[in-house]
Amino acid sequence: MSERKPDAAPVRVALLGCGTVGTEVVRLLHEQADDLTARVGAPVEVAGVAVRRPNKHRDVPAELLTTDAAGLVDSDVDVVVEVIGGIEPARTLLLAALRSGKSVVTANKALLAEHGAELFEAADASGADLYFEAAVAGAIPLLRPLRESLAGDRITRVMGIVNGTTNFILSAMDGTGASYAETLEEATQLGYAEADPTADVDGFDAAAKAAILASLAFHTRVTAADVHREGIASVTASDVAAARELGRAVKLLAICERVVGEDGSESVSVRVHPAMIPRSHPLAGVNGAFNAVFVEAEAAGQLMFYGQGAGGAPTASAVLGDLVAVARNRVVGGRGPRESAYADLPVRPMGQTPTRYHVSLDVADRSGVLSQVAAVFAEHDVSIAVVRQQGRGEDASLVVVTHSAQDAALRSTVDKIAGLPVVREVVSVMRVEGEEP
Ligand SMILES: NC(=O)c1ccc[n+]([C@@H]2O[C@H](COP(=O)([O-])OP(=O)(O)OC[C@H]3O[C@@H](n4cnc5c(N)ncnc54)[C@H](OP(=O)(O)O)[C@@H]3O)[C@@H](O)[C@H]2O)c1
Repeated sequence: MSERKPDAAPVRVALLGCGTVGTEVVRLLHEQADDLTARVGAPVEVAGVAVRRPNKHRDVPAELLTTDAAGLVDSDVDVVVEVIGGIEPARTLLLAALRSGKSVVTANKALLAEHGAELFEAADASGADLYFEAAVAGAIPLLRPLRESLAGDRITRVMGIVNGTTNFILSAMDGTGASYAETLEEATQLGYAEADPTADVDGFDAAAKAAILASLAFHTRVTAADVHREGIASVTASDVAAARELGRAVKLLAICERVVGEDGSESVSVRVHPAMIPRSHPLAGVNGAFNAVFVEAEAAGQLMFYGQGAGGAPTASAVLGDLVAVARNRVVGGRGPRESAYADLPVRPMGQTPTRYHVSLDVADRSGVLSQVAAVFAEHDVSIAVVRQQGRGEDASLVVVTHSAQDAALRSTVDKIAGLPVVREVVSVMRVEGEEP
């Protein structure tokens, strides 16, 4: 029997923000009104749309527009959809909504990565829902699979490309051999990078998403401040060329890992940095502004989630999916998943995280160079997986790929090697992910 209750009271929605994402939310709510009513079991009605500059929004019926977001949240609504972005006033508005028992759907990664715990506590106290599928990887269903579908499994690793701007830049550098600065300029002209690209290129956006992914995957509270973050501004054309020669591609990765220490104790490592991955790895083929996330779980094995990680309509798709879920809960009763942070695993400092390095050196063309370099690796207890010496005279170079070692040991090794008289220049240093070489 259908759950449809045509006479059921409408689910009233406050929409906060009507920009790139909000405009598409309004459009889809309007265009799919009948289907949404059938799927929810009651009509979904927009009670108001809060914006900063109402004159700019000619497509939205004037009687729905307001600049008083707090008043709209406080009015007779059941669900608050937030697509304003940033910390304030979004945080205050959503806390007010949750505290008064209104369910919340948000696309705001920055807010969740910094104040997720506070929002979840407010939701739990009132029994309201807090959904945020659109906050990570846009249209790609990823958080619901982590929160629900994989809730019976043990996730060991989540590794992904979660920022389209940096992926566009790195893909273009790989394709053309151009420098980072040239490629960033092109990305800005094409609209793939913002006028101020800091949040993307310095890894802040990806770090917020990594914090959210790690929190869900490992049932542990992880904030953006816990995430080790390196951006792509220092990736050179030589790094990209060096990767290419080794059959690898450079990607900005968000990596969330369960690390088991020698004594069996568990911790999580959460980091964002550029890394070389084998071209045969599924993430290496993710180009341009697309996102993809690779999940490894003990029973499920390897899973890959791929699709459009941004843009108005794709992100609105995820927002609408959440809206249908929370509206259904309102109509039929019940709640979606709460915060699950019971595992409370410690976050491992980057220096103690096992990683692998690729080091490319310009060296003097002399006998004994290799043994001097190898001795520094051995001194730091770093074992070498691949070494390649090539060229003569001015062109002599040495490429070393290590086995897994603590990041701090790898860093000290590189620092010491840079000071060796036989080393003319450290051309490229980059972490390596993917299979052991
Ligand atoms: N764009 C994407 O592709 C994408 C993808 C995934 C997630 N997200 C997330 O979605 C959220 C929205 O992004 P967006 O790109 O749609 O942003 P946007 O285009 O900048 O739109 C922001 C909207 O919020 C309104 N606003 C700003 N301050 C306000 C205030 N104090 N009170 C009421 N309204 C206010 C603005 O009003 P005016 O229009 O009047 O200025 C605008 O309509 C962010 O959290 C973002 O991280 C976006």
